[in-house]
Amino acid sequence: MKSSKVTIPALLEKKQKGEPITMLTAYDFPMAKQIDDAGVDIILVGDSLAMVILGYDSTLPVTMEDMIHHSKAVSKAVKRALIIGDMPFMSYQVSIEKAVENAGRFLKEAGCDAVKLEGGKNVVDKIKAIVNAGIPVMGHIGLTPQSATALGGYKVQGKDLESAKALIEDAISICKAGVFSIVLECVPDELARIITQKVNVPTIGIGAGPYCDGQVLVTNDLLGLYEKFIPSFVKRYINLAPEIKKALASYVNEVKEKKFPSEQYSFKASKELVNALKEWESQN
Ligand code: KIV
Repeated sequence: MKSSKVTIPALLEKKQKGEPITMLTAYDFPMAKQIDDAGVDIILVGDSLAMVILGYDSTLPVTMEDMIHHSKAVSKAVKRALIIGDMPFMSYQVSIEKAVENAGRFLKEAGCDAVKLEGGKNVVDKIKAIVNAGIPVMGHIGLTPQSATALGGYKVQGKDLESAKALIEDAISICKAGVFSIVLECVPDELARIITQKVNVPTIGIGAGPYCDGQVLVTNDLLGLYEKFIPSFVKRYINLAPEIKKALASYVNEVKEKKFPSEQYSFKASKELVNALKEWESQN
C-alpha cells in the first residue's frame, strides 16, 4: 500500500486507468486512523455526523462549528487519505461570500484538503466562487439529503427519463463549474454509468451501482454501529452494535458481582506501605 498523500490528480489518474476509488466517512480521531491505515483513498467528514454521531433525525441541524470540531479530530489522525469537509445545510446556500468563507474554514481551521456540497445547476455559482478561491470542491447530486423534503423523502432519484436527463445536465454543469469529483447518491445503475462516462472527473457512488469510478459508504452503517435505519444499498461488513452491547453487559455484571477489578487490574501495595498504613489506622 502506498503511504504518500492522496492527491486530486492521483484520483483522476485512477479514473483514467479504471482503478476503483475508495471513500468512507469519519468523524473522530480513532476511526479516522483505522480508515486511513486501511488504505482508503478519501475520508469524508460527512454531515451524516448529525445522524450517526449527534443523534439528530436528519442532517439539517448540524452546524459549521460541529463540522469544524469533528474535522479537526479527523485531520489530526490522517496521513494518507484526501480529507473532505462536508458543507452543512445553510453554510453555502445563502450567498457566494458565505459559501467561500465557510469553505475556507474547512481548510484553514480544520486541516481538510477539499469540501463537498450538494446540488446541481442551482449551486454552480457557489462552486465556481469556491474553486476560484483555490479550494477544491466535490459535488453531490441525486439524492441530496439536505433537500430530502423537497425531493419527497429519501428516495431513488432519476427514475424516469426526464429526471434522469436533468441529473445528467446537473453533472455536466457542476463539472464545468470546476468540481474535481462527484458523489452520485441513490440513482439507478445505468444512469450512474452514463454520468460516469460523460464527465471527466471521478464519480463516487452510494446506492448508485457498480459503474461509478469509486464507492462511498457511511462507516457507521458498514460497521453496524448505526441501528436506527439501514438503507437497502448498505452492506454491513460487520455487526458491531450487538458485540458492544455484549461487552458492556459483561462489564456491568462483573462490577456488580465484584469480579472486576481482579488482582490483575489493581496496584498491589508494598509490604512496607501495608504495615505503615496499619499503624496509621490503629492511631486514627
Ligand atoms: O454526509 C455523508 O455521509 C455523505 C455521504 C453519504 C456521501 O454525504
